Amino acid sequence: MIHLVKKMKKKIGVLTGGGDCPGLNSVLYGILLKVTDIGHTVIGIEKGWKGFLENKTIELDITRLDDLHTIGGTLLYTSRTNPYKDAKKIKDPVEKQTRIEEIAHQMASQFKDLEIDALIAIGGDDTLGVAAAMHEYAGANVIGVPKTIDNDLSCTDYTFGFWSAVQLASNTMDNITTTSRSHQRIFVVQIMGRDAGWLTLVSGVSTGADIILIPEREFDFEKDIVNVLRERTKVGHKYHIIACSEGAVPSTESLQRDFNTITQETLDQLPKDDYGNPLLSKLNMSKIITKELNLRTDLKDFFLKYDTEFEVRDVVLGHTMRAGTPNSFDRILGLRLGVRAAQLALEDNYGLMVSLRGEQIEVVPLSEGVKKKIIPQDSDLLELSELITKVKYESRR
Ligand code: F6P
Repeated sequence: MIHLVKKMKKKIGVLTGGGDCPGLNSVLYGILLKVTDIGHTVIGIEKGWKGFLENKTIELDITRLDDLHTIGGTLLYTSRTNPYKDAKKIKDPVEKQTRIEEIAHQMASQFKDLEIDALIAIGGDDTLGVAAAMHEYAGANVIGVPKTIDNDLSCTDYTFGFWSAVQLASNTMDNITTTSRSHQRIFVVQIMGRDAGWLTLVSGVSTGADIILIPEREFDFEKDIVNVLRERTKVGHKYHIIACSEGAVPSTESLQRDFNTITQETLDQLPKDDYGNPLLSKLNMSKIITKELNLRTDLKDFFLKYDTEFEVRDVVLGHTMRAGTPNSFDRILGLRLGVRAAQLALEDNYGLMVSLRGEQIEVVPLSEGVKKKIIPQDSDLLELSELITKVKYESRR
């Protein structure tokens, strides 16, 4: 009998992949609470797919992890290792597909070595894409939990970590206003968000940033920045905050016409990570905009004519946005997603992703959940951002 109970005891592996994010430990704690309550076991896998491939596990003892959901970062460590990295480079589509399927099978066979019955992968589109392929081609017992401060995953209203990051960015922009005002400076604040501008748009609107630049709308340096600065200065504004997403880029026309410090080649030749994402920290758009503005002697003269200093500074919020403890929303969301993911594993329901829809935690096919969500062009947030920019100078004319 004891032997039978032991045999039925499930071992559920958990890994966290991609950039870390406040709320990862909350999901982990949710999983632990549910799984331990039913009498099964959770096996922590270290450093995302890296540890998965190398059989690196961590013992998780819930008796030593009280209130883990309140702690930032991930206890499991994380990495951006992509098991399909080399396969993705194969030119021949048939050969490429065959290799991808082979890898999916090899990865599914890792379950034996790791001694797990199921895997809960917590990550963004990259990490979950690997899990989805493992399920699709090798029938692996996987479940996904969407994670990213960028909030750019479809099928879920919000990803945990997003609102914590928005608050951190908003606090900084609120604070920067005072030093910006004291010195009469232009501050270009760079905010994370590689493919989608949610973080920049929401924190920018919430703090009343004067110009907001996001990846979904290529900007025109002359029209969207220089002209707005002129108009604002003309009506008496003495300082300006530009919220710039790290993924914001100028239009081709503006790049060719207005930029002296970068070319299209600079953008095309950016180094990439294991998943092929450009390393935007190497580009640093806020610095580029700052340099370009500093070259504009005409703008400087214009500012001086209106008795306003012309000094431009850039601040890169970078990893400070992912740092620290999750806020209450992200703790609760993480816990709820964790409990639901664990429940799916206990019921042997695989190939699914848990998500937030309205107030409910729902379940969607993993293959759907990995898709991207960018800001729609008709978003009311975009309208708000335009109104905030425009009305601040038009209403004073
Ligand atoms: O995971 C998403 C993200 O936070 C992006 O907003 C950003 O471009 C990227 O991670 C930075 O990654 P890393 O930590 O590898 O520099």
